[in-house]
Amino acid sequence: MIPISPRLLCCASLLKGDVICDIGTDHAYLPAYLVQSGKAKQVIATDVKQGPLDSAKGTLKRYHVEQDIRLVLSDGFDKVNPKGVTDVVIAGMGGETIRDILAAPKAEFIKKGVNLVLQPMTKAEILRPWLAEHGFAISKEIAVKDTHVYTVMQASYTGKAEQLTPVQCYCGKLRRADPLTKIYMAGVQERLHTKAAGLREAGDDTAADEIRALLNEINLWLNPNRG
Ligand SMILES: C[S@@+](CC[C@H](N)C(=O)[O-])C[C@H]1O[C@@H](n2cnc3c(N)ncnc32)[C@H](O)[C@@H]1O
Repeated sequence: MIPISPRLLCCASLLKGDVICDIGTDHAYLPAYLVQSGKAKQVIATDVKQGPLDSAKGTLKRYHVEQDIRLVLSDGFDKVNPKGVTDVVIAGMGGETIRDILAAPKAEFIKKGVNLVLQPMTKAEILRPWLAEHGFAISKEIAVKDTHVYTVMQASYTGKAEQLTPVQCYCGKLRRADPLTKIYMAGVQERLHTKAAGLREAGDDTAADEIRALLNEINLWLNPNRG
């Protein structure tokens, strides 16, 4: 059995095509699972470092899936041949790193109908507005319980650029009725409280008040009937 986590299983559930590109594969558990379960015919599994690719090689051997997974040493899409790629998954990295990978010139091909599954560990509020401003729409977002509660988003290029409100940047397309969304958002709120307190202590009352206002909006978003 491939030791795949609930977080990666959730990513797998949003992948729909045959040829999947996993950027930042590390141990390659996700590609091994995708091939073994028949969810993908082929996977291009990349990493920017040789060490993770060596560990990935061990995984492919252990689970007898070497023939359908190509390991590529690549920074983002730099060395990826995009021909036939239907889906891209970028999981387990910070939102800013995911944004930089998507913004690179070699990522242009993802605008041609590629299904994107993105799982930022941090700074999702930076990734979401970048996607919206560059014509990508998030169609689904799921809070998933693993060692922490994480967010997993599915997005694709529509060409329609949009400016998100601050509350949209923080809440995205998470389902507010889902109890896991409340847990995920509690972590976000706690970080914002800490930031506001730091700003207040440093004498920047204006910035602290802006964060307080955002926290109120997030509360309203989470509890629309209490407004
Ligand atoms: C924490 S691991 C995540 C592994 C797996 N995707 C997961 O979600 O469990 C992040 C991996 O991304 C790789 N990485 C970071 N920046 C990258 C980039 N620009 N291009 C390709 N891989 C990258 C790192 O070397 C590391 O192996």
